[in-house]
Amino acid sequence: MKMYKFVMPEIIFGNGSIRRVGESCVRLGAQNVFIVTDPGVIKAGWLEPVIESCKHAGLTYSIFSDFTTNPKDYEVEKGAKEYMASECDAIVGVGGGSSIDVAKAIAIVATNGGKIHDYEGVDKIKRPLPPLIMVPTTAGSGSEVSQFSIILNSEHQIKMTIISKSLIPDIAIIDPETLVTKDRLLTATTGLDVLTHGIEAYVSIAATPLTDVHALHSIKLVANYLRPSVASKTNMDAKEKMAMASLQAGLAFSNAILGAVHAISHAIGGRFLLPHGDVNAILLPHVIEYNYISAPEKFLHIAEILYPHKNGISTVNAGDLIVAYIRKLQDDIGAPKRLRDFGLAEEDADIISRYALEDACMITNPRDLTKEDIKAIFLQAL
Ligand SMILES: [Fe+2]
Repeated sequence: MKMYKFVMPEIIFGNGSIRRVGESCVRLGAQNVFIVTDPGVIKAGWLEPVIESCKHAGLTYSIFSDFTTNPKDYEVEKGAKEYMASECDAIVGVGGGSSIDVAKAIAIVATNGGKIHDYEGVDKIKRPLPPLIMVPTTAGSGSEVSQFSIILNSEHQIKMTIISKSLIPDIAIIDPETLVTKDRLLTATTGLDVLTHGIEAYVSIAATPLTDVHALHSIKLVANYLRPSVASKTNMDAKEKMAMASLQAGLAFSNAILGAVHAISHAIGGRFLLPHGDVNAILLPHVIEYNYISAPEKFLHIAEILYPHKNGISTVNAGDLIVAYIRKLQDDIGAPKRLRDFGLAEEDADIISRYALEDACMITNPRDLTKEDIKAIFLQAL
């Protein structure tokens, strides 16, 4: 029998849970918290309830928001300096994947020293991190429950993947109400990122029965609720279901890791500073077409979830059905479909395939890829 390991933080899920940040920090022994959030979150009004709950719990706080999407190494180093100068004793990340990844990376550098580059790869963190509380405001990245942090190496324009059990936050607070301020395109592309997490985790060579249950349920939730969530900012039922989809996909991929979509997406996102969800949304059907022969039974299960009332689904047609489903979903929700719309061109194929081949997410892809295979996928997605 194979041995399984499954890691996850304490999870607080529900409308209004963002007001639990202060008491959650106190439970972890914090007195002075370092809040990492981005200007968009502040503008949307989600920093206020966090600050109120900290004040209510008797905590003092500092705020760091001096970073950008696809967060950079030098922004992490600035944040780590500010954290140390502030003498805070816990870190709260509030926002999308960028805010949470920066919060984690600041924790690494502040307690382990050196530069964030020293921790690229698997299990390089040696000293314990301060208490981490993460509050996602996009149903997408899954970083609030994952052992990942993705930071851009600004000199080489490559996304560094840092994987360590130390990066699993102590508490993840998931409040579906925060999703009502997302615009339509962000809802669509982050939702397709969730679908990508579910599918890549399910077909990963590191998948286990413990990750499969979360991966499959996240796929089902996206199939049923992404369209209504994109259609209405105030459909709370759809927002709650998409928040749960994001959470379950995050639990699945944190433990089963990902695959070629994320490996290629990291290479493209690092080089051209493009939004993660948009790039994944474009690559997903092309990678499924390539990966299909590696796990026809698993793709059959996915097709059965996407087409619950259809007869005659088999391992022969499941791959084509999944790809057709995703293309229709992209059309319905207005998601991008071509890399060339973001300014990419044929001459970029070589460098992207070189970097993608070395990405940590490629290791768990169910089908082997050569540089030429990646190039072919890139050109199809162009
Ligand atoms: Fe992702």
